[in-house]
Amino acid sequence: MKKDTKIAHAGRKKEWTGKAVNPPVYHTSTIIHDTVADLKFALKNLKNKIMYYGRRGTPTHFAFREAMAELEGGHDCLLYPCGLAAINAALMSFLSSGDHLLMVDTTYGPTRALCKTVLKRMGIETTFYDPLIGEEISELIQKNTKVIFTESPGSVTMEVQDIPAIAKIAKKHNIVLMLDNTYGNLINFSPFEYGIDVSIQAATKYIVGHSDAMLGTITTNEQHWNQLYENSYYMGYTAAPDDINLALRGIRTIKTRLKQHEASALKIAEWLNSRNEVDLVLHPAFDDCPGHKFWKRDFNGSNGLFSFTLKEGNDASITAFLDHLNLFKMGFSWGGFESLVMSFYNLKGERELPLWDDYGPLVRLHVGLEDADDLIADLDQAFDHYKAAL
Ligand SMILES: Cc1ncc(COP(=O)(O)O)c(C=O)c1O
Repeated sequence: MKKDTKIAHAGRKKEWTGKAVNPPVYHTSTIIHDTVADLKFALKNLKNKIMYYGRRGTPTHFAFREAMAELEGGHDCLLYPCGLAAINAALMSFLSSGDHLLMVDTTYGPTRALCKTVLKRMGIETTFYDPLIGEEISELIQKNTKVIFTESPGSVTMEVQDIPAIAKIAKKHNIVLMLDNTYGNLINFSPFEYGIDVSIQAATKYIVGHSDAMLGTITTNEQHWNQLYENSYYMGYTAAPDDINLALRGIRTIKTRLKQHEASALKIAEWLNSRNEVDLVLHPAFDDCPGHKFWKRDFNGSNGLFSFTLKEGNDASITAFLDHLNLFKMGFSWGGFESLVMSFYNLKGERELPLWDDYGPLVRLHVGLEDADDLIADLDQAFDHYKAAL
């Protein structure tokens, strides 16, 4: 079956939906077991998506978990209250005190903070590596390296990683390879075809797609499923049924939405490329984006997220630019139907390696589903205010 067909049908087993198109949204903490035999059966089948206790899930959870596993191409999936909780659960499920973690230097900010605070306190040492390292990651491996964490493209600066090259080394050393696949979502990248063991997503972004719920997912291959399942459950993670329902609904339109996000973002990125004020446009589909050749080789397309750097700029000019945007609203998220903007004045503070020390102020855009020409007009008039304040 082609992806469009899978997207329309994934997770819609009769066992979960009954006679309806979608599964019911179960609001329950307690599951009633009619007989001792029923209870014993449930206990024996905990791993087989059986109703046992609210935290273990209901058909609302099971339908979404199945849809995610099928569409990401993994074995099974677990749900978390947000993307960051899923990242934490993945790392905590596979790392112990005394272990070493290789973390990409361009990871999402709170993931970096997690490594430098909680993981450090628990005796887990992190080395941050260059996103373009490829096979040379082998030089950073220590006897106690248990996890390599990737995120591609990188947060804010959009470097695309050579995942197959890193996967080859991870496999050779028996190291678990994780990916924050939020950019890749269910359409842009297929993690398990490229050697990823554990794929994490902030479903908060394109899967929910409407900025009205937070949700995290972890999908693993068969080999790593038991370890995730056993460890993660005892950390008490669960997800709320209404949020799962919104995510399940988001899945059905994700491919259609992404087409417009992608087309509009490309149009706006081209336009920015021709602006005098702009230094670099950091869009994975552009030749000069670091790691572009890996994007071209491994990805099925792009989406609405990209960044650009400015040749010059000071506090006043960037502030004038941001304050005068009308359609691009200032907010930290992305993946919803609406356009967003965020500026990063000082990348030095966001990275361990000196990769971005020499660049000007950076602006990240999420291009929403508005008309691209209206969005360009919005940026155009904001640039007038930027120039006036330089
Ligand atoms: C790449 C990436 N991963 C993870 C997260 C965290 O997701 P959540 O906000 O659902 O915790 C974000 C949020 O912005 C993100 O951009």
